[in-house]
Amino acid sequence: MAKIKVAIIGCGNIFPMHAQSVKENKYTELVAVCDNKPERAKARAEELGCKAYTDYQQLFDEEALDAIHICLPHYLHAPVSIDATKRGLHVLTEKPMAIDYEDAAHMLKVAKEMHTHFGVIFQNRYNAGVQLIKRLLTDGTLGKITSAKASVTWDRSDEYYSKSDWKGTWDKEGGGVLIDQAIHTLDLLRWFVDDDIDYIDATISNRAHEQIEVEDAAEGVVKFKSGTVAAFHTINYYGYDAPVEIELYCEHGRVKMVGDKGTVDLFDGRTFIADNDPSETFSYGEGVKSYWGVNHVKQINNFYDVLINGGELFIKPEEALKTQKMIHAIYQSGKEKQRIWFS
Ligand SMILES: NC(=O)c1ccc[n+]([C@@H]2O[C@H](COP(=O)([O-])OP(=O)(O)OC[C@H]3O[C@@H](n4cnc5c(N)ncnc54)[C@H](O)[C@@H]3O)[C@@H](O)[C@H]2O)c1
Repeated sequence: MAKIKVAIIGCGNIFPMHAQSVKENKYTELVAVCDNKPERAKARAEELGCKAYTDYQQLFDEEALDAIHICLPHYLHAPVSIDATKRGLHVLTEKPMAIDYEDAAHMLKVAKEMHTHFGVIFQNRYNAGVQLIKRLLTDGTLGKITSAKASVTWDRSDEYYSKSDWKGTWDKEGGGVLIDQAIHTLDLLRWFVDDDIDYIDATISNRAHEQIEVEDAAEGVVKFKSGTVAAFHTINYYGYDAPVEIELYCEHGRVKMVGDKGTVDLFDGRTFIADNDPSETFSYGEGVKSYWGVNHVKQINNFYDVLINGGELFIKPEEALKTQKMIHAIYQSGKEKQRIWFS
């Protein structure tokens, strides 16, 4: 069987997670990488034994590709995805789908019209603790979630921002701590509750970064139609990347997720615990942050399994779109200083 011809666009921090996953996948062949910094594209291509491009449109014109991975600054996710999809290519993009909800919705609409596969990376949904919690919610063991809270307190210094030509800006990153760091945890929170949103009431502010224009702090409430109230708080001026925390107070028990570990204490006395298995490893190469874990490879394998064998993606793009809508409404609430109602 001919292999799926893949190119990765954007050769920065997250690139190795995609490159090694594509290299190791039995269905795929990495034919090219693309970065507008020529030395980056060239170095990665040499390392991986594939072609280098600096212009993604030239890449699309010249290579007979089947699929692309988007590892680009946020503002480029929508245009690159739509261009590729219109050429009939399958697209797997890094989070967030886009900067704007409307662009994200358009990306999905075009993929549906073209009958191409489209996925958005939210690798933390594969964490063992997350899977345990979701299973006990889905099978009814925990009953309804009455309230929830989430906390993400990480460290993104001025130096971190000064090294990037797009992070910390509204037009290129689309926001700060919310759309970049806390989005994973907010996605989990929304997925756990798994209900339509009634309203969002939130604040955003910049409190400890002088060089960036976007928010480094946000807090608020997501009220779901079923009545569940989910509170969140996030900052990226803490001293280190503290383990993220989610707590769910449910009809039949209490759930605590700290980092990758999930603990479920049922009111009948039973306790369930799940954590990532430290012996489960995948080498993405040198300089890759350990907390990015083995879950990129799992999501990428799922994308290609579905492409070859059929079925549904474990993380459907509609799910990513719902999270995008939630993030968008948090920004709107924060900027307009008012409650945002969902219809
Ligand atoms: N899933 C995760 O946990 C996770 C972690 C880190 C980053 N990310 C996401 O990955 C994406 C990339 O983030 P990053 O940290 O790797 O950024 P980065 O800045 O390190 O890399 C982006 C790369 O894109 C290149 N680029 C910019 N404009 C281009 C263009 N027009 N054509 C071709 N190349 C271009 C840049 O030169 C750079 O090498 C973002 O969406 C980010 O949110 C996800």
